[in-house]
Amino acid sequence: MNKRDHQEELNLDGLRDETLVIHADDWVANDGTVAPAIYYSATFTARNATEFAEMAGTPRHPRYYTRYGNPVHERVKKIMAELEGTETALVTGSGMGAIATTLLSLVSAGDHVIAQTRHYMSTAKIMDEMLPRFGVEVTLVEQADVTAFAKAIRPHTKLIMVETPANPTLVVTDLAAVVELARPRGIIVVCDNTFASPINQRPHDLGVDVVIHSATKYLGGHHDLTAGVICTSEELAERIWHTHISIGSVLSPMDAWLLLRGLRTLPIRIERINANALALAEFLEAQPQIERVYYPGLASHPQHELAKRQMRGFGGMIAFAVKGGYDATQRFVSALNLSQNAVSLGGVDSLVVHTAAMWEGVMTEEQMRTAGIPSNFVRFSVGLEHIDDLKADVLQALREV
Ligand SMILES: Cc1ncc(COP(=O)(O)O)c(C=O)c1O
Repeated sequence: MNKRDHQEELNLDGLRDETLVIHADDWVANDGTVAPAIYYSATFTARNATEFAEMAGTPRHPRYYTRYGNPVHERVKKIMAELEGTETALVTGSGMGAIATTLLSLVSAGDHVIAQTRHYMSTAKIMDEMLPRFGVEVTLVEQADVTAFAKAIRPHTKLIMVETPANPTLVVTDLAAVVELARPRGIIVVCDNTFASPINQRPHDLGVDVVIHSATKYLGGHHDLTAGVICTSEELAERIWHTHISIGSVLSPMDAWLLLRGLRTLPIRIERINANALALAEFLEAQPQIERVYYPGLASHPQHELAKRQMRGFGGMIAFAVKGGYDATQRFVSALNLSQNAVSLGGVDSLVVHTAAMWEGVMTEEQMRTAGIPSNFVRFSVGLEHIDDLKADVLQALREV
């Protein structure tokens, strides 16, 4: 028997992130296990026809059909809503599943959307190609310029999509200023918070309506799962969920379980990753072979003051430009031993990409210029290796430039 059967439900008020990631979901399952059970079932039984009708008619039911919900999803949702400070959350099969489902739920033909000139590549594609195909007008603005958001607003603007810090340029959007423009006009603000994680930035505290994560990254944290999370109000979650079950970007129970395991250590991983990234950014800035470092935690970042205002830590993503152009950058990235050449980010292993090389063939030179990516641009996802080992590896690779 669960020893908590005789106790009150745990009061989460005032508990810190480190405690929430371990205990916020205790009462969601309340099934007597210490480690969460995995419910590898696509469908769930009702005791009788009356209960079945009740289950079928309850939106977001946690144990009716896994595309609609699953007990492991429930645990993840509870922790994420607590971390982001929102009423509730939804989970999806990937970060793009979360973004596409949210956008397709909240906008219709004839609406206008404002987004940034810099977004994660697939989000940019939704803005450039998909929404216009469905009759949604999109205006892209320079995210560092609040007046650009203000100027872009039209009477039919329905939604503003922001991503901060943005992938891969680490440009920061002033969330409070965007909310101030949107709120009086009833415009929904959606923020992709993947790069920061809820430990470093809580957009809903600043008034953002929907906070999205690629949980594939920091939330999972081990490069072993693909998942997305949408943190929002009950009202918006209900609207998004109805689209979600039609689009079917379902999170598998196994990946939800891995995500739960990853979440347990999120705050301490982020604490160390923040420290590693700041130290590495400062180190890179001092190297003669480096042209420029982009990291919101550096005083040299043009938006450092804004980042300090809206972030509690600056995260594990660094970008930098290597002197000597495209070929020198290729040589540098190839010479790294610890940081592997791979897409994705936010896990325990450091990963590196020569961005221009990755996006050759996918983006035109013009698109890369608009996205602020020079040919010698490197994106570095700082992991949990010892900082001295990371520095030594970077140093030996710079000798190859
Ligand atoms: C900022 C950001 N948002 C969304 C995504 C998409 O996430 P997923 O790969 O989980 O679909 C990514 C992936 O790299 C990302 O970096």
